[in-house]
Amino acid sequence: MAVVQRHHDVLIQRLARHSRSYRDPVEQIPWDDLDAARPWLPDHLLSLYGLPEFGHLQSEEKLRLSQVEFVSFCELGLWLEALFIQRLGSHSLQNLYGDAHSYHYQLHELREEVGHSLMFLELQQRARLPFMTPPGQRPSLARWFARFAPEASVAFWSTILIGENVPDQMSRQIFADKTLPAAVLAITQLHMREEARHMAFARITIQRRSRHLGRWEKWMLSPLLREVMRQFLQTAFFPGPAVYAAAGLGHPHLLARRVRLNMERINLMQRCAEPSREFLCSQGFQI
Ligand SMILES: [Fe+2]
Ligand SMILES: [Fe+2]
Repeated sequence: MAVVQRHHDVLIQRLARHSRSYRDPVEQIPWDDLDAARPWLPDHLLSLYGLPEFGHLQSEEKLRLSQVEFVSFCELGLWLEALFIQRLGSHSLQNLYGDAHSYHYQLHELREEVGHSLMFLELQQRARLPFMTPPGQRPSLARWFARFAPEASVAFWSTILIGENVPDQMSRQIFADKTLPAAVLAITQLHMREEARHMAFARITIQRRSRHLGRWEKWMLSPLLREVMRQFLQTAFFPGPAVYAAAGLGHPHLLARRVRLNMERINLMQRCAEPSREFLCSQGFQI
């Protein structure tokens, strides 16, 4: 057991070292390059892509939709980060005395998440867009797990991992399109770089905690994790009517319903979910 703990501490200390040279994300983004005349997402990452309605969009509408959907994707990040910041802030004292290495690393993670949130808020203000998805429309189970699941538990860290890994898969696809404005690429790259460490910490913690769970407990937890995943995927991939309304499209409620049956979108969602599913399955959960 002492060997496992030592190995865990070494990994956590390494992550903390990588986080040491911190720079404010808001200062790093070339905001002047956030060009309103260019798309902020490639066509194939837009929610309507694959539906007949997409083919009927004017180029101006498509452009605006790409910008609104990118901001909406970052708003998802804001919501997740707010949950994480809230949770970490309220439980930090227990961590400090219980597991000093994790506490140290989580302070780095907290600082990075606060930086991401400031960056996303700056983007939203520059895009002159309101909040488009109120917290009440976000998944209730993920919210519940993030707030109440026992500290350092598999349930809590699996929720965090799903919330970081699924959008990260989307970020990789955004970053692959080098025709996007430099500001969009910089926001995406910075987030991907720091989230890689956050996901490593979540995986290490899940692996360590899973060892203490029997097959029966994993079997009991699996349907809950499946439901967290399902609810999270819904909110991440299927925008609400407010997003289409902000893009100036007609019949936003109809579009929000139509997109749920869009096979292109469903396939993209499944591809983005795959790495989290694979990891949780490798830990003995049926996801
Ligand atoms: Fe983040
Ligand atoms: Fe994160």
